[in-house]
Amino acid sequence: MTQIRVAIIGAGGIGGAHLNAYGAWASLCQIVGIADVQLEAAQAKAAQVDCAAFADYGQMLDEVQPEAISICTPPNMHLPVAQAAAARGIHVLCEKPPARTLAETQALVDAMAQSGALLQFAFCHRFHQPIVQAQDLLKSGRLGQLVQIENRFGFRFARAGHSWFTEREIAGGGILIDTLVHSIDIFRALAGEVRTAAAAVSTTLPIQVEDSASLLLTSESGVIGTLTCSWVTPVSEAKVRMYGTEGEAVVDYNGPHGLCYRLAGDDTWNLMPFDQPDRFTLQAGHFLECIKFGAQPLVSGQDGLAVMRVIEDAYKGIA
Ligand SMILES: NC(=O)c1ccc[n+]([C@@H]2O[C@H](COP(=O)([O-])OP(=O)(O)OC[C@H]3O[C@@H](n4cnc5c(N)ncnc54)[C@H](O)[C@@H]3O)[C@@H](O)[C@H]2O)c1
Repeated sequence: MTQIRVAIIGAGGIGGAHLNAYGAWASLCQIVGIADVQLEAAQAKAAQVDCAAFADYGQMLDEVQPEAISICTPPNMHLPVAQAAAARGIHVLCEKPPARTLAETQALVDAMAQSGALLQFAFCHRFHQPIVQAQDLLKSGRLGQLVQIENRFGFRFARAGHSWFTEREIAGGGILIDTLVHSIDIFRALAGEVRTAAAAVSTTLPIQVEDSASLLLTSESGVIGTLTCSWVTPVSEAKVRMYGTEGEAVVDYNGPHGLCYRLAGDDTWNLMPFDQPDRFTLQAGHFLECIKFGAQPLVSGQDGLAVMRVIEDAYKGIA
């Protein structure tokens, strides 16, 4: 098979991460175009891989005819770009959040389903090795019955108040839809489908949207989730902690190890190795392999819809 022709739309921070990730799979794909309304941003990234740069993504899709794209624009453009790809039968790897609302996400998923092309939402934590190790440990039953999950993503976000991230019309909301969207996906990957969700939010900065949020979830199987996120706390923290009836486990994104776990009676933590490429590289490789073999992506349109149902319920509950 020849290399899959891939284009990237949105040449900002995450567009760069996708570009680097595809670079690790050079035998599987070739970057054929990069589009950004800021043409200089597209040109700077295109120069790295010697491909064409465009200011208009529709023109790029027609001219370079990619087989697959990464949507790396702000959320207000996820639906229109996906619809343009669907109309041309192009496979899509779409950044989180899936879109600004559940209705937009449904329209995006429907358009892609009608096209017959693949849709993968970029819930990248599914490809983080310690999260996969946690899924395996839970499946093995060694932690006993899973009872509770705690997750925190906290940091001081320099772009809050100075970018589209805090403009409701573009982002669809604040940290709940931007960051807790990852937390909900991680909770679903570890505990299964969400049954109930209640949110609390607050805003410390002079911005339109919430900069801190907590979610209390229960899963269909009765697992309780406490998920907290903030853009205004200075100590960077990214942790998922699981408690079962026979032990507990921790994924610390800032730590040197993979999954750490301790069973009833253990005096010390068991440390798992962390030796795989980063999650963005693995995510891109999975997308390309699904295209190559005609397989369904691990993170499907239905996963995007399930997460957005929780987000929508959470926002309704605090309205
Ligand atoms: N998976 C993750 O961990 C992660 C991390 C950061 C951002 N993201 C997501 O990635 C997306 C982009 O975020 P970012 O941090 O790269 O933002 P960014 O502002 O750095 O980059 C976005 C780029 O999109 C371009 N753009 C805007 N409208 C466009 C249009 N109509 N056509 C073409 N280009 C357009 C902008 O000019 C900008 O260069 C968002 O959905 C964000 O939530 C995901």
